[in-house]
Amino acid sequence: MEFRDLKKQYQALKQEIEHQISNVISSSQFISGFQVGELEEKLAEYVGVKHCITCGNGTDAITLALMAWEIGPGDVVFVPDFTFFSSGECPAYEGAIPIFVDVEEDTYNMDPKKLEKAIIKVINEGKYKAKAVITVDLFGLPANYDAIQPICEKYKLLLLEDGAQGFGGSLHGQLACSFGDISTTSFFPAKPLGCYGDGGAIFTDNDEWASLIRSYGVHGKSGEDKYNNIRIGMNSRLDTIQAAILLPKLNAFKEYELRDINKIANMYTELLSGLGMGLPIINGEYVSSWAQYTIQLPENVNRAEVQQKMSEKSIPTMVYYMKPMHRQEAFMGTESSKADCPVTVQLCNRVLSLPIHPYMKKEDVNFVANSLKQILTVYK
Ligand SMILES: Cc1ncc(COP(=O)(O)O)c(C=O)c1O
Repeated sequence: MEFRDLKKQYQALKQEIEHQISNVISSSQFISGFQVGELEEKLAEYVGVKHCITCGNGTDAITLALMAWEIGPGDVVFVPDFTFFSSGECPAYEGAIPIFVDVEEDTYNMDPKKLEKAIIKVINEGKYKAKAVITVDLFGLPANYDAIQPICEKYKLLLLEDGAQGFGGSLHGQLACSFGDISTTSFFPAKPLGCYGDGGAIFTDNDEWASLIRSYGVHGKSGEDKYNNIRIGMNSRLDTIQAAILLPKLNAFKEYELRDINKIANMYTELLSGLGMGLPIINGEYVSSWAQYTIQLPENVNRAEVQQKMSEKSIPTMVYYMKPMHRQEAFMGTESSKADCPVTVQLCNRVLSLPIHPYMKKEDVNFVANSLKQILTVYK
């Protein structure tokens, strides 16, 4: 069994994907071929924003957004403590200070009350300038934008939605990657919408930021002229082959993958409820795109032992994430390491992600759930 079975997806879409790849190779338009523009248009339309700019990966996407906002030394960016490293790495790379905010136990996403507390603390201390909030749509579930957007407005902070894991999720019918002043995503192969290598995208309704990001992503070019460089930028583009691969994958994602992965997640939730573990319950206004199905094991359970026993049954499991961001060695001795995030610390000790993907068979979901149930009986 695969944790996320990209081979099965390839089998389902093989003909179209190979046709697309072969078209790119015959045209030899490997960089900025027409498929890149076509994909950007389709992504912007699907998400419901004016501009989509593709780039090299989800990390560059966050960095490009921060560059457009000129975020740098002396600026504070609020980031959830429970996330992949990029969300905090990018502001730090720009010289800003990521301040890590604890998350909610049931959604795994940034706790709006704790966010406001952290903002007030930075403002009252007056040492640094509170500039932006990076929300993460963790494991496919949009963050609590009903609460976080008004907080950003109240304190005049820019909102960057890191939708690397959230593409396809929604809140009140509004799609992920449209909640931020700028939003970003990743097309890393195992993401809800993944390509066959690295890839990413930036979404915004703001014309000025979109044009700045297009410039920063191609060596600070002026307009369309790559050899007239008016600012220091970087080289971060989505290859034409990756765009061409994403076109049929986006169709499948919209037509059935998002629906099917939700069925798998619902099955897990039915099979695993009532056993004393924390399950990812999705409130009715939200739709998750299930980048991960992550449970919280009961406190008395030895997670490594459970993983070993699952692995003996050929069931792969993963731990996302082992370490709170504020305890990562890279932040040691900095302002960022001072965060107080007990929920994240607890989650890091207890979470376990189970195999999930849109092509998973019902028998396999049953097998994973029953195996886990059986393994956990030892701890009763
Ligand atoms: C929450 C989050 N942000 C950012 C990224 C970075 O994306 P990429 O690997 O495409 O740079 C990831 C990728 O795992 C992620 O999960």
